[in-house]
Amino acid sequence: MGKIKTRYVCQECGYISLKWMGKCPECESWQSFVEEFVESKKGNNKNSIGNLGKPIKLKDIELEMENRFSTFNGELDRVLGGGIVRGSLVLVGGDPGIGKSTLLIQVANNIGKKNLSVLYVSGEESLKQIKMRADRLKIDNENLFIVSENNLEYISKYVEEYKPDLLIIDSIQTIYNPDIASAPGSVSQVREGTATLMKLSKKMGIATFIVGHVTKTGSIAGPKVLEHMVDTVLYFEGEKHNVYRVLRAVKNRFGSTNEIGIFEMTNDGLIEVTNPSHLFLAHRPKKVAGSVVVASIEGTRPVLIELQALISPTNFGTPRRMATGIDYNRVVMLMAVLEKKVGLRLQAQDGYINVVGGIQLSEPAVDLAIVAAVASSFRNKVIDYQTIIFGEVGLTGEVRSVNFAEKRIREAEKMGFKTCVIPKGNLGGLPKLENVEVIGVENVYEALDIILGGKAVG
Ligand code: TYD
Ligand code: MG
Repeated sequence: MGKIKTRYVCQECGYISLKWMGKCPECESWQSFVEEFVESKKGNNKNSIGNLGKPIKLKDIELEMENRFSTFNGELDRVLGGGIVRGSLVLVGGDPGIGKSTLLIQVANNIGKKNLSVLYVSGEESLKQIKMRADRLKIDNENLFIVSENNLEYISKYVEEYKPDLLIIDSIQTIYNPDIASAPGSVSQVREGTATLMKLSKKMGIATFIVGHVTKTGSIAGPKVLEHMVDTVLYFEGEKHNVYRVLRAVKNRFGSTNEIGIFEMTNDGLIEVTNPSHLFLAHRPKKVAGSVVVASIEGTRPVLIELQALISPTNFGTPRRMATGIDYNRVVMLMAVLEKKVGLRLQAQDGYINVVGGIQLSEPAVDLAIVAAVASSFRNKVIDYQTIIFGEVGLTGEVRSVNFAEKRIREAEKMGFKTCVIPKGNLGGLPKLENVEVIGVENVYEALDIILGGKAVG
């Protein structure tokens, strides 16, 4: 037994202090310090990623072929960069109840069906609960092994014994190493657990999914603490009352981080959404002011999404501005551009902007659609139902070109749209299109003139 010491660890960012503090100097969260006991063990380097030995020449490192396998879930494969890499650690973060366990048990089933073995370790649910869920999802699989265990030592033993192709840990906040005195879910336990799993998976070439709950309070450590340790970080997002879920890569050592996967939560579990445009436009109202469709690029995929604006006279001194699914500051800026450059008197108007479907849009290419929706609602003029709009808007009201213009237009064409209003700068690179009319615009004024008709501006 080594010497036992105590220290205080911020459960948000992992900052270590010898005395308790009310506010973390690193991440500035309040009340996030928790006392932890540490046993110092000399000469035990737990963070090394396996027995790699002495340095060797880069060109002498051999890569095994076929070190990736499919999860047989197209959306997940896309986010992972084309399947899961053997020996890699993937963190799946998200709010409790969002569907992490559901997704992973479904993936376990897919993989098991292809004669790869899966070990699913649950620290949260009993075997019966898992079985009930599996029955509901109609999962029945010879190669799927389940264990309900929290102790890291036993988990390691099972892994070494069963040598699964895929290991799932649900969740990292419930497993603990008995050698560490602090409670499961604390920063030390979460880090230690991840380090041990990482060593195991690198050594044995096992692909590992780790579930991490996102927490609002500092009482248990969230996935942020281990983002830097794992190879890939995926976040499962969505609103509870909405059936759509978005899986987003925020870090990926084996692929791009702009990919998203879209799922729908149904009674039969999560279903992949292969045609998101169709989904986001399904319940679009016809002939109403303030609604417009934008072609946005999500990852490498174009997606058509409805944007809505509601502009109404303000009741208080200062007008309210609200943005859902889109950057608030961008909305405020674009409304200012409309005031100054187009002459819309928005200073006494409340403005609400909403992206339909609970998705987040972050690229500036949606600017022109925001501008169009706001002007449409303000003027109470309907934008043509079969028109899509995209383009970045600058502070002088100019419409700047964006990338992937053709991809966006093709998607609109596929979904039956007839007109695309796009930046003039993008016209040059386009091939001849038969089914859609493409109109290039130079500035916001011109765009609104086309979209809403001459009298609507100025
Ligand atoms: P779960 O996967 O347990 O979430 P997490 O592991 O992220 O905490 O999902 C829980 C929610 O999903 C629960 O509210 C019920 C819902 N659900 C369905 O709608 N359909 C299903 O087939 C399943 C299994 C769950
Ligand atoms: Mg769960």
